[in-house]
Amino acid sequence: MADVQRCILVVAIVLCEILYCVLSEDSVRNCNIADKTGLPDDVCTYELRMKGAHPTENDQYFCSGYDVSSDILGEDNNPFAEGYIVKYEALADANTAHHILVFGCESLRSEGNNIWKCGQVCGHGEQIVFAWAKNAPPLTLPNGVGQHIGGRTTKINHIVIQIHYVNPLPAPDFSGIRLYTTRRRQPYISGIYLLLSYGVTIPANTPKFHVDSSCVFNWADSIVPFGYRTHAHTLGSVISGYKVNRGGESTLIGKGNPQWPQAFYPVKERFEIRPGDLLAARCTYNSTGRFRETEIGSTSNDEMCNFYIMYYMNSTMELRKGEDTCYRNKAPQVFQFIPADSDEPLPSNPDLEQMAHGHHHGMGVHSHNNEATTTGQLIDEPKVDVEKPLVDIGDNNNGLNLKSELGLKYISSVKNIEIGQVGGLAVSGHGDLHIFHRGSNIWDAWSFTNDNVYRNQDKPIEVDTVIVLNKNGDILKHFGKNRFFLPHGLTVDSKDNIWLTDVGLHQVFRIPKGSVTPDMTLGTRFEPGDDKFHFCKPSDIAVMSTGEFYVSDGYCNSRIVKFDKNGYYIKQWGTSSVQQPGHLFPQPGTFNLPHSLALAEDKQMICVADRENGRIQCFDLEGNFIRQIHPKLFGAALYAVEYCPNHGGILFAVNGPIYGKDSVDTQGFTVDINNGDIVSMWNIPGSTLSHPHDVTVDSTNHIVYVGELNPRKVWKFQMSQALYSTANSSVVSTTQVTEVTKGVSLETKTEVESEGIGPSVIIGTMLVVPVVLLIIITVTVRLYKSGYFRNCGRMSSKRSVFSLGNFLHSHRGFDRLSTEDDDHDFENVLDDSDNEEFNITRKA
Ligand SMILES: *[C@@H]1O[C@H](CO)[C@@H](O)[C@H](O)[C@H]1NC(C)=O
Ligand SMILES: *[C@@H]1O[C@H](CO)[C@@H](O)[C@H](O)[C@H]1NC(C)=O
Ligand SMILES: *[C@@H]1O[C@H](CO)[C@@H](O)[C@H](O)[C@H]1NC(C)=O
Repeated sequence: MADVQRCILVVAIVLCEILYCVLSEDSVRNCNIADKTGLPDDVCTYELRMKGAHPTENDQYFCSGYDVSSDILGEDNNPFAEGYIVKYEALADANTAHHILVFGCESLRSEGNNIWKCGQVCGHGEQIVFAWAKNAPPLTLPNGVGQHIGGRTTKINHIVIQIHYVNPLPAPDFSGIRLYTTRRRQPYISGIYLLLSYGVTIPANTPKFHVDSSCVFNWADSIVPFGYRTHAHTLGSVISGYKVNRGGESTLIGKGNPQWPQAFYPVKERFEIRPGDLLAARCTYNSTGRFRETEIGSTSNDEMCNFYIMYYMNSTMELRKGEDTCYRNKAPQVFQFIPADSDEPLPSNPDLEQMAHGHHHGMGVHSHNNEATTTGQLIDEPKVDVEKPLVDIGDNNNGLNLKSELGLKYISSVKNIEIGQVGGLAVSGHGDLHIFHRGSNIWDAWSFTNDNVYRNQDKPIEVDTVIVLNKNGDILKHFGKNRFFLPHGLTVDSKDNIWLTDVGLHQVFRIPKGSVTPDMTLGTRFEPGDDKFHFCKPSDIAVMSTGEFYVSDGYCNSRIVKFDKNGYYIKQWGTSSVQQPGHLFPQPGTFNLPHSLALAEDKQMICVADRENGRIQCFDLEGNFIRQIHPKLFGAALYAVEYCPNHGGILFAVNGPIYGKDSVDTQGFTVDINNGDIVSMWNIPGSTLSHPHDVTVDSTNHIVYVGELNPRKVWKFQMSQALYSTANSSVVSTTQVTEVTKGVSLETKTEVESEGIGPSVIIGTMLVVPVVLLIIITVTVRLYKSGYFRNCGRMSSKRSVFSLGNFLHSHRGFDRLSTEDDDHDFENVLDDSDNEEFNITRKA
């Protein structure tokens, strides 16, 4: 069977090549450049694109490699062809590619490996030649300067582009770089010298913190710095680089704001860096409003400290280059010679700030055409091996005590229901579980513009988004297709009205008992805002028995809004914690993403899961602060909270995963609402919750449900007797574990099994025919985009055969052809994590 498939695939690919060569032009390498202003007149361009990178998790790095002589210079038969890169232009958007690094390699990791997940970039001989991030504009090198590639001396026989993807993408990506090359010998050659640091922890909520890097420049010859580029993540406020000579005189190489486009900016005056000089870079961070420590590391939750110097030198000195990366702080004495204002932020520049966030149309950003492009990251991110302490956000002032590990018993997941990411859960008075889920829609980096406007306004979820089950797991009803976009909060009030929030629509809906369509809608469709008639990604609702209700709003606003029973605005409270500098801990009454509400009407209290502050805050019904609950055990993110009047009043809560940190478990908590004590912690057996998003309680039947974004599941826990016997305050677990849910399914899933022997081969082969057509189309499109056919008119047979083999033997290549719509894409999609943190920091 495998042979048959392989054979068919070969035919398919050959057909693709023919089809493509007939239909297309050779567009990847181009020597007919219309505008050659400032460039040598023999300039050609070559596009190095990522050959279909499909990140399915956060913070993935992909690489694609190109051969210098045949691909970039167009000389198939001359392995020692040489040339110079004189201009770089990114073919990418900061929303997709966090950064692009361009490396020169002596050899690739394994020949013919044209896309791979890369920690390791080159097989041998790695040097960085260019970096881009945050929508930096193109970079043209000064006249007479080129990045030498190919030939016998440069050790750059291949170019690899590396892209850091912060978020999973819905489809393969083909971002890349356009190189402008000349074959004319340039009198000066360019290169990059990089200073970076790591192994340092940036403390929480500190307005100014330095991370330093320094080295002695010990090359045989001088270099002239002409461009510099800074790279840090969201906390970086300023990065400055200096040369200090032996006499202790410092010269500024450049000072940059890493929140601007991370381009190479021009060095203001010409000077040389001579052998024996010291080089220093100081990265300054402002962690005001971030209540956790931050490491130097490779994910977007970490920070980086990189200062790139682009230099040129006399090309006759090419072979005398020295080490071009300065790791850590090897000459700390240098910092006594640098100016005191090295850590003073630059004056704000709204144009550059906007451009960095993607509003790059019609901006007059650069006056010099050599202030170009941009950023990257650290080269091969050094691993940070420092043990990090627990983030100290729980100040224990609440007198929190862990009383017991028990309290809830896991029963089963509500399974076999085709649900998407679970937004909200609620239980009606009869114990019916309501689930509000996202179907095949996911919340990722693509979902919203920087202004919080939902992008795919023409693609509502096509399946029923609300599912109602009884406590045995039987489906009672389902509705809500073609209406919602990104389901989030769900509440059932005491009159069995269903309340929903949709963060894509920025709206809140009430669906009266027995109906399937809303009779009350608040907020303005697809319009984010913060007034009485707008929400911005509202997260949850809580409804009083009087009909008055509260909305937590939400991802971009930091307020709780109270409405009367007819939906008229009464009042609101809350401000952003992020904009409260000068406090070590977030102040009461401020929020960093109010994500979930728990109304304790009998206590005259409403509690808020203040998600990114990792705490629960409780208020009276008018918004006056009562207490906050934030033990260390919650960690940095507390996702959801629900109230249960039993047992004198308890709260159930779930925290969230913390990326790159193992310091707390993702689990459930039972908390005494009266004093904030943790009564118990609970989890699924033999494992931990992975990304819980909401929690709800059936207080009649003593059941707690937890809905997860990923895996897309709802878990069911049985309360132990002590939690509902009000007469007894000790916590005892007596409940039997029983399987409550049976195989309930909304739709029948068709499984196609095409492997086997005998008759199944025939069936399999019949299946393969339409599949082949699909593959032909897919492969053609992919290869077209990837530049695979760039030279099909004159493709050497050696290369062609080799690449075919690669397609056939690389398991990865196969996966990529067939998995577009399968579950894998949804795994590890952390909707409510990174993106939203980014959205908050850059909210409009
Ligand atoms: C740090 O950031 C806060 C909040 O963004 C700001 O108010 C403060 O001025 C900054 N401090 C410094 C020293 O940059
Ligand atoms: C490069 O160095 C050589 C030898 O030191 C010298 O003759 C030449 O003039 C220099 N070229 C430039 C462009 O400075
Ligand atoms: C509370 O529970 C404990 C342990 O099960 C039991 O010994 C005790 O009698 C109970 N007290 C009351 C008042 O029910």
